[in-house]
Amino acid sequence: MRAVLDADLPGPRINRHLYGHFAEHLGRCVYGGFWVGEDSDLPNEGGLRLDVVEALRALDIPNLRWPGGCFADTYHWRDGVGPREDRPSMVNSHWGDVVEDNAFGTHEFMALCELLGADPYVSANVGSGTVREAAEWIEYLTRADDSPMARLRRENGRDEPWRVPFWGLGNEPWGCGGGMGSGAYAELARQYGTYSLDHGDNHLYRIAAGAADADYRWTEVLMQNLGRHLGVGRVSGHGTNTYQAISFHHYTIVGDSWDAKGSATRFDTDEYYRTMVKATAIERILAGHAAVMDAYDPDKRVGLVLDEWGTWFDVEPGTNPGFLFQQNTLRDALVASVHFDAFHRHADRLVMANIAQTVNVLQAMLLTDGDALVLTPSYHVFAMNKGHHDAASLPLAVRGVTPSRTVGEADLPTFSASASTKDGRVLVSLTNLDADEPLVVELDVRGARVEGITARVLTAPELSAHNTATDTRVVVRDLEDVALDGGLLRVTLPAHSFATVAFAGA
Ligand code: AHR
Repeated sequence: MRAVLDADLPGPRINRHLYGHFAEHLGRCVYGGFWVGEDSDLPNEGGLRLDVVEALRALDIPNLRWPGGCFADTYHWRDGVGPREDRPSMVNSHWGDVVEDNAFGTHEFMALCELLGADPYVSANVGSGTVREAAEWIEYLTRADDSPMARLRRENGRDEPWRVPFWGLGNEPWGCGGGMGSGAYAELARQYGTYSLDHGDNHLYRIAAGAADADYRWTEVLMQNLGRHLGVGRVSGHGTNTYQAISFHHYTIVGDSWDAKGSATRFDTDEYYRTMVKATAIERILAGHAAVMDAYDPDKRVGLVLDEWGTWFDVEPGTNPGFLFQQNTLRDALVASVHFDAFHRHADRLVMANIAQTVNVLQAMLLTDGDALVLTPSYHVFAMNKGHHDAASLPLAVRGVTPSRTVGEADLPTFSASASTKDGRVLVSLTNLDADEPLVVELDVRGARVEGITARVLTAPELSAHNTATDTRVVVRDLEDVALDGGLLRVTLPAHSFATVAFAGA
């Protein structure tokens, strides 16, 4: 199979925030994942688990979304500040119906972001909170002078304001975030946006909560609602401060019903291919939302944000159904790699994406097991693709027919790829989704001399291979089968593999 890569035709920048993360008060993501408490025997800084921090720092994670998810619309931030022993408890009604003691709150989250070197993305409570509560939270976080909330922050031990670039206006308002229609939410989004003020030099990028999957109508209502405020970024009061981006969520879910989504580790080839049909649908859904936005905003001033994505399988047997703990196999890694290719192709509109979720929940990067830390196959895709952060996307087109498999009624392309350039180097990501057959790809690189090739591959004998605390089966290796041949870069991709090839595009 041959593909053409135009190395001298740089396209839109691939925003590093497409590699964003999501941490909700759900199961063992925050508690046990990020937060172990200061009295823990595990190495920690101020209660934050250091092996987790180090593993994520190695990914250069650009942002972290918190506190939810559905939890965000039940969260009252004042319960999570001040001395821990005085913080009231609450019930986490969405996730396991467990009692949340608010040990991890605003200060702990902001300390975590500082340790990670990640931008905070804070989601305000629109579902069960108040406009005043949201307004005071942002004042507490970002105001420098002697305002009431800045004073309260100082009393709680933090003198300097933090920087909060990303501010979510609720979450899934059509569902757990309030069961609203798009029109009702659109009005609320303007109201919350108006009172979520920029304090001092802190400029908020307000993200309105968006559609489920392909609900393009939701996006359209939010675009119409912006009206003359389209893309206004800086508060000037008087209702001009609305939102700068619109989100949507898309999970890769297979199975016959919500109660039977299939196992994360036990699946046959047919189920694998059906998973990939679902995963590759992201391309069409992104294009659908982008087309609606283009009609109202041809200059692309409003950003599209996919602030929850990833696989969602049945929980591991014997674990709390409300904790959404699932293992993570090579199949998950390939779901991630095809998503990133689609993200790169939509870099002109898509400004952020957040994997759900970072630790111990859904398609996690990391699993914790006592004092052991497991890097999942998905983690390695994020690591191998790091070179795409803030790089210029490059056009890559298949010549002729893309290999494919028929899956039920669907035609699944089994090859996916994308490329970018930064600092004089080109990075190409290549996925072979075929469960059984290797694929030889001849890359016709135009507009650059290919030098200094390095290549890495992620694969394993079985698609269900995964890593545990005692058995590491999915690791990144050097890809040997790469050669320059008559001006073509020939790469042999093993069956079910993800590879990256980098070179100096002189
Ligand atoms: O990520 C788990 C949940 O999925 C989130 O809380 C919610 O927003 C979505 O439905």
